[in-house]
Amino acid sequence: MAIDIAQILAAQSGRNYQLHAEHINPRWAKALGIIGFDKCYERAEGAYLWDREGNKYLDTLAGYSVFNIGRNHPVVRNALTEFMAADYPSLVQIEAPLLSGVLAEELKRRVGYGLDRVYFTSTGAEGVETAIKFARKATGRSEIVFASNAFHGLTNGALALNGAEVFRQDFGPLLPQCRRVPFNDVDALKEALSQGDVAAFMIEPVQGKGAAVVTDGYLREATRLCREAGTLLVSDEIQCGMGRTGHFLAIHEDEGAEPDIVIISKSLSGGYVPVGAVLTREWVYDKVFNSLDRAVVHSSTFGQGSLAMVAGLATLSVLDDEKLMQNAKVQGDALGQGLAAMKDEFEFIHDIRWRGLMVGIEFAKPKSLKLKTAWATANKLNKDLFCQAITIPMLSDHNVLTQVAGNSMTTIKLTPPLTLTDADVAWFLDGFRDVMQRLHRFPGPAWEAVYRIARNAMQGGATSRPAAE
Ligand SMILES: Cc1ncc(COP(=O)(O)O)c(C=O)c1O
Repeated sequence: MAIDIAQILAAQSGRNYQLHAEHINPRWAKALGIIGFDKCYERAEGAYLWDREGNKYLDTLAGYSVFNIGRNHPVVRNALTEFMAADYPSLVQIEAPLLSGVLAEELKRRVGYGLDRVYFTSTGAEGVETAIKFARKATGRSEIVFASNAFHGLTNGALALNGAEVFRQDFGPLLPQCRRVPFNDVDALKEALSQGDVAAFMIEPVQGKGAAVVTDGYLREATRLCREAGTLLVSDEIQCGMGRTGHFLAIHEDEGAEPDIVIISKSLSGGYVPVGAVLTREWVYDKVFNSLDRAVVHSSTFGQGSLAMVAGLATLSVLDDEKLMQNAKVQGDALGQGLAAMKDEFEFIHDIRWRGLMVGIEFAKPKSLKLKTAWATANKLNKDLFCQAITIPMLSDHNVLTQVAGNSMTTIKLTPPLTLTDADVAWFLDGFRDVMQRLHRFPGPAWEAVYRIARNAMQGGATSRPAAE
């Protein structure tokens, strides 16, 4: 008998956390329960999710920046269903597939910089591993330089370029010869490259952790220093690329910057099929695939799968047709300016930064004595707690899904779909204002709720911070 997915979904509805606790990740299931994030989402469209009770939520994570064009986009879905009905071959392997050639052309047209060769991957971390290997082979050097607070994925090589101890700890020894430099520090980069032994400098123009943004001119200087040192500049656009900042690539914001390798993934799939791409200069590719014997010396089984290529082509067309990059700029500015306008009103807010729809809201110790006590108590209980005092009521009281931005526990990051509307921006800003007003009343019910959650978490040994993002 044919499998009936609709019947499975209906019959199993609501068992999400029980099944995860039994078979997948009990700690994660428990942590989500403690903070009230244990929703069972059963429908998704654009920037919205609906739970099984029919409540509608605004999703400002977009699956960690996977759904730039919004969830379940009909254009991508139709392209995939039409393609599946055509019985077209995929993964023949000993052939040159047509669709990866077509998608490579489309990507090159958008990326530019003379990055003439495209290597397809299934995930972001696989793209990072690819860049490490390509840079080493092309330059004949082994050192890789990365920035503090960097996040390039959690596979072994990528982990060696991770700026946070919590991810690295206990998984070593990691790839040797990886050097960390402080983010945005030109002098430190100059020093790190000065011995002429560095294969690549890998950087996120807007960091996934904390939404830290490169300062104006930093990437231009980095380009110059890399050229002088014979080092390849790698722009990790896995999260900040694909139109999120208002340009196809975030590095475009810094005029004069020129990457030798660009890595994209996440949104390239429209969220349907895992896919990524590494674009690089021809000479780099020629060094890697340098003889007929070595023509597939680096490859992966699912890299050029037809469904992934179709999803990529359809996603690029939606990005253009719906002018989503322009919308990212307009709505990003509306969101950023709306938040910046609250800075004087709410002393917990330290900094608002954004590039298009990649927004960081950073909090810091307030000035008034009463609120200082609230801040200190929260921080003593749990480093994530202050931000969770915001993300929890944003979800429970305002139906807005938000996230704490990884290792910088004092920042909330927003990476909503680029389809965001004026009404969505107002939805977020109204909710955020309400939550901030309540947290600026201390002592008060908002703080009691926060402490209760912290106590429950301590009893359960749970953490509510997601690993990758
Ligand atoms: C900037 C950046 N690089 C690399 C990765 C790793 O991508 P993946 O999780 O697809 O392996 C991520 C994932 O969050 C990322 O944000």
